[in-house]
Amino acid sequence: MNIKGKTALVTGVAGAIGGAICRFLAEDGLRLILVDVDQDGIQKIADELDVETYVLALDVSNYEAVAAGCNKAFAEFGQADVLVNVAGILSNNKLLQTDAAEWKRIHEVNLDGPFYLSQMTVPHMKEQGWGRIVNICSYAWKSGGMTSGTAYSSSKAGMVGLTFTVAKEVAEFGVTVNGIAPAYVMSPMVTEQLSEEQRQERMAAIPVRRFSEPDEVAHAVRFLVSPLSAFITGEIIDMNGGFQFD
Ligand SMILES: NC(=O)c1ccc[n+]([C@@H]2O[C@H](COP(=O)([O-])OP(=O)(O)OC[C@H]3O[C@@H](n4cnc5c(N)ncnc54)[C@H](O)[C@@H]3O)[C@@H](O)[C@H]2O)c1
Repeated sequence: MNIKGKTALVTGVAGAIGGAICRFLAEDGLRLILVDVDQDGIQKIADELDVETYVLALDVSNYEAVAAGCNKAFAEFGQADVLVNVAGILSNNKLLQTDAAEWKRIHEVNLDGPFYLSQMTVPHMKEQGWGRIVNICSYAWKSGGMTSGTAYSSSKAGMVGLTFTVAKEVAEFGVTVNGIAPAYVMSPMVTEQLSEEQRQERMAAIPVRRFSEPDEVAHAVRFLVSPLSAFITGEIIDMNGGFQFD
C-alpha cells in the first residue's frame, strides 16, 4: 500500500494549489516532475522539496513541448505513475465580453493541456497496471460560473467530461481518474482577480463563511492518489463550502 518512490507529474506547480500538492506528495515520498510556464516559480518549489525532482518549464497547451518534455522526464525517471493537472488560467468575462481569441486560449490551457498530458501518461500507467490521474476542475463546471466567465466555466466542464471518459477507458487497467471541483481557494486567482467588494460578497454567501486553503485541495489530491482509493474513479469531489449539496 506504499506509494513511496512512485513518480508524479504535477502541472501548475508555481501556483498556490500546485505548490501545496507538491509539498504533500513529497511528504509521501513521491518523486516529482514539476511542470509550469514560470521557470523561476518551478525552481522555487523544487528548492523547497526534499525528494528527487525533474523540472519541466513548458506551456501545457504546446503539444510538441509536452510530448518532448514528457519523453525526456519519463526516460530519466523510468516511470509515470501519477498525473495531477493543476495548471489553469481564469477569465471572468461573460459571453458577450469574451472574444474568440480568449475563448480559444482558455480552452487550450485548461482543457487541451490536460488532454495532451493524459495521452502521454496513460500508456505508461496501463502498461504497469497502476496509475492515478487527478484533474483540478472547478465548481464553475456546474454552477455556470459565479464570478468566473463563460470560457473558464466551459473549459472546466470539458475537463469534467475528460475525467469521465478517460476514467471509463482505463478503469480495467488499475488506473483511476478523478477530479476535484473547488470554489474560491485562497490564491492570486481570488486575491488579485476579485475586487474587495466581490470577495466580501462571496465570503458572506459561502455557507462555511470562508474561502478554502490550497492545503485542503492538496489533501484531497493526496487521498485520491493513495492506493486505498482504488475503487473511486470517475468521481468529481466538490469542495465548495456548502454552496451546493448533491
Ligand atoms: N483559486 C481558486 O479559487 C480556484 C477555484 C477552482 C479551481 N481552481 C483551479 O485550480 C488550478 C490552480 O489554481 P491556483 O489558484 O493555484 O492558480 P495560480 O494562478 O496560483 O496557479 C496556476 C499555475 O498555472 C501555471 N500556468 C498557467 N498557464 C500555464 C500554461 N499554459 N502552461 C503551464 N503552466 C501554466 C501558472 O504559471 C501558475 O503557476 C487552476 O486550474 C484553477 O482553475 C482554482
